[in-house]
Amino acid sequence: MLHAEWKTSGHARARNSPLYVAMRDRSKNASCEGCHAPLATLTDPAERAVDEGVTCEACHAIRDVGEAAAEPRYSFDLQGNRKFGPYCDGKDNYFHRMGCAPWFRDARVCGGCHTFSMPLADGKSLPIINEYAEWRASSFSVSGTACQECHMPPEVTHAATGSERKVRVGHHGFMGEKGELVRKALGIVASATDRAGTLVVSVVLKNEGAGHAVPSGLPGRQVVVRVQALDEKGHAQAREERTIGRVLVDEAGREVPFYAARAEKSDERIAAGESRTFTFELDAPRAGSLVIEVAWRSVSPALAEALGVPAEERTMGKIEMPFGGKRSGKGREHLPKTVVARP
Ligand code: HEC
Ligand code: HEC
Ligand code: HEC
Ligand code: HEC
Repeated sequence: MLHAEWKTSGHARARNSPLYVAMRDRSKNASCEGCHAPLATLTDPAERAVDEGVTCEACHAIRDVGEAAAEPRYSFDLQGNRKFGPYCDGKDNYFHRMGCAPWFRDARVCGGCHTFSMPLADGKSLPIINEYAEWRASSFSVSGTACQECHMPPEVTHAATGSERKVRVGHHGFMGEKGELVRKALGIVASATDRAGTLVVSVVLKNEGAGHAVPSGLPGRQVVVRVQALDEKGHAQAREERTIGRVLVDEAGREVPFYAARAEKSDERIAAGESRTFTFELDAPRAGSLVIEVAWRSVSPALAEALGVPAEERTMGKIEMPFGGKRSGKGREHLPKTVVARP
């Protein structure tokens, strides 16, 4: 069911996710709702269910988006009670009147909202939400792989509640059935060796599955690479983690939410098709196993604390690898070893 799928998506929470509410209230910026609750700013609140964020209406009332522009802008048709969708034969839809809009299969229908930059004092602009531009710079735009191919894979479903009619429709969860698209982003190659008793672990992450940088989306999102050496009882002997993301800062160089930012301090995200290597050295004398976990984090700990919201984590991939105990001058059992996890 499309509505149930959509309900699981960020689009349904666009106006009331705790992170959004915390940032919107602190930013005191009226423009946020223009994308997070597009219809709220345009329609009579008494008439429509405007509280639900990026609703069915918000997307299917888009009449036009600029032709292949770097920053597409959309316009709505709310008067005609007409809905737009990719089908032009008029048979496969449940809507009252159908607007034929083949470009619903193009990336630019997403680009209208998924492009957002902020003007800076020096006249330059700071990109905030940038997936569309990153996608345009990637091989996915060259091969014609639109956002929808990954975010709305086709499935056969009922067109509407109670409808017997089945249609081939893109999945409306946008991050997969249970948000599992994060598991498809990165290929992981982990190798471990022993160097004079120290465990040396190399983790290579390759962005194989996303049509833009990872972590994408809101600045402050992070990818965490966490390596633990457990002993045979499962107790940690050693542990280390690295994070990557995009850090925006204020005049004093402190990490701040994007609306308070004056500059980009760093962008360590992994571009589409790019690889990144992380090296760890762990002091783990007893035999046990290495647990290498790559996780997506909704917001950096610094921002989470400043905003008073919890940082949420989702597993992107995990590798386990046994190793023997430290032996003087002889290396360890089971090492060196390389394990590959494909997305
Ligand atoms: C009318 C504006 C609008 C349009 C059009 C739009 N989005 Fe979004 N999208 C948003 C907003 C706002 C959010 C942030 C929601 C939140 O607060 O989590 C979002 C979030 C997302 C997310 C993260 C969702 C999650 O569950 O974490 C994905 C993925 C996404 N959009 C993909 C797409 C794709 C693909 C398209 C084109 C088919 C698209 N969007 C079109 C406004 C839009
Ligand atoms: C973020 C934007 C977005 C939201 C929100 C959204 N849709 Fe869609 N919808 C699309 C896009 C884009 C397509 C075309 C996908 C494809 O085929 O590649 C589509 C396709 C469809 C189709 C099949 C084609 C057609 O129009 O006949 C139906 C039916 C549909 N959506 C219904 C809904 C319903 C019901 C909701 C709310 C529960 C909803 N949509 C919410 C973007 C959206
Ligand atoms: C080749 C597949 C692919 C294509 C093409 C693609 N994405 Fe993604 N997208 C992913 C994967 C995998 C993730 C999960 C990794 C992540 O969150 O960075 C993701 C994550 C996202 C998120 C979630 C960010 C968050 O903060 O939760 C948004 C928003 C998004 N994509 C939008 C887009 C838009 C807009 C386009 C087209 C301009 C697009 N994507 C094209 C695969 C793709
Ligand atoms: C031009 C459209 C646009 C405007 C304006 C906009 N956003 Fe967003 N916002 C998006 C899109 C698209 C995403 C999806 C990327 C993602 O999920 O990481 C998003 C994601 C977010 C998220 C992450 C959502 C979550 O639940 O994790 C927060 C928080 C957020 N925006 C806050 C704001 C605030 C605060 C403002 C106003 C100062 C604002 N946005 C203005 C388009 C916009």
